[in-house]
Amino acid sequence: MASNRALAYMGPRKVEVTTLDYPKLVGPGGRKCDHGAILKLIVTNICGSDQHIYRGRFPAPKGMVMGHEMTGEVVEVGRDVEFIHTGDICSVPFNVSCGRCRNCMERHTDVCMNVNDQGIDCGAYGFNLGGWQGGQADYLMVPYADWNLLRFPDRDQAMAKIKDLTFLSDILPTGFHGCVVAGVSTGSTVYIAGAGPVGRAAAAGARLLGASCIIVGDTDQGRLEVVKKAGYEIVDLSKSTPLPDQIEEILGHREVDCGVDCVGFEAHGHGPGAEDDPVAVLNGLLEIVRAGGGMGIPGIYTAGDAEAKTEAVKKGTYGLDFGKAWIKSPSLTAGQCPVKKYNRNLMMAILWDRMPYLSEVMNVEVVSLDQAPEAYRLFDEGSPKKYLIDPHGSLKKAA
Ligand SMILES: NC(=O)c1ccc[n+]([C@@H]2O[C@H](COP(=O)([O-])OP(=O)(O)OC[C@H]3O[C@@H](n4cnc5c(N)ncnc54)[C@H](O)[C@@H]3O)[C@@H](O)[C@H]2O)c1
Ligand SMILES: [Zn+2]
Ligand SMILES: [Zn+2]
Repeated sequence: MASNRALAYMGPRKVEVTTLDYPKLVGPGGRKCDHGAILKLIVTNICGSDQHIYRGRFPAPKGMVMGHEMTGEVVEVGRDVEFIHTGDICSVPFNVSCGRCRNCMERHTDVCMNVNDQGIDCGAYGFNLGGWQGGQADYLMVPYADWNLLRFPDRDQAMAKIKDLTFLSDILPTGFHGCVVAGVSTGSTVYIAGAGPVGRAAAAGARLLGASCIIVGDTDQGRLEVVKKAGYEIVDLSKSTPLPDQIEEILGHREVDCGVDCVGFEAHGHGPGAEDDPVAVLNGLLEIVRAGGGMGIPGIYTAGDAEAKTEAVKKGTYGLDFGKAWIKSPSLTAGQCPVKKYNRNLMMAILWDRMPYLSEVMNVEVVSLDQAPEAYRLFDEGSPKKYLIDPHGSLKKAA
């Protein structure tokens, strides 16, 4: 039987390669998964969400296997799987969902009611949300395989575009979702907070949706440079010039139609020397999104941040400027991205070369599983790369 190497969380800023048993068609708590499939992973990415755990700011048990952005080849299917076959190359949505509950039937796979026994309607791999094993590993069991897996139509074509298709498991649908719920459409002006991989995916998503002026803000110079080079406008939040003034310099107005938060609770404030400020992005959006405009908030907010400065923030209670903003009739949508709402159509956009600009802005680097701890460290330091783990050397071979 093949061995199953994986990357485990061992405490703040410590991840280690460990060896697991080869997966069985069994889920958390011994749950039978005859509806599941086993995938030999081709590529599995490191995400900013993993970084919240890595920094010890999103509670997770020691020994938990990390990772939720998987693409792989099906090597085994359970008795109840009908339409997925061994040999299929598939993208795995990071949300674990059943396809049978009310929310799944409404394609709200971010809040599936049947995959987490801990009292929350939400499951994800490698995330202490339902106990599903993470996917930074050689092999992974995916439950409800007919429902969860997105099969690529052609193996050779999939391998040729794998470095773009790999984003379908999370960040491309997530960035796109942030834009869709913010109301981005033809000609919209958009401000995206955060030039990390999700912000960069959102910028590409806004372009696909036909936005006009797409502005990305961050303090990180290396990340802003990647975004600028790829043809987007940038706002440098390390400068003392306030956000609305910088937007006005670009656009001629102090407000945009749509705002997307691709930062989350580890936000820092604006201006030179600014410290952590978990509401900097939300209050910034409330200020600069026009009256009647929309906000998408894929950036994660959570109760349980061990490093939160106040008891209120530790509980996930934030000081929002809502009273000031209420009169603007804001619309805002938060939460995990329901990947299955978008992944098939975004796959088609990639396969039909409608997003030729994606790879430049994503700026990937491929690493082995043994190099993954170092990639976590570099990503934590603000590297402008998106790290793709290649556990079996398949990407290397394909290249
Ligand atoms: N909702 C979902 O389904 C979903 C899916 C994937 C990721 N996420 C979340 O999206 C967020 C972004 O992910 P990522 O991988 O790009 O993370 P990341 O940490 O690499 O990027 C975040 C960026 O935000 C910047 N930043 C900090 N404060 C800022 C501010 N006030 N204004 C503008 N930029 C600021 C940082 O410098 C950093 O470059 C994370 O919270 C992640 O957990 C959510
Ligand atoms: Zn992710
Ligand atoms: Zn469900």
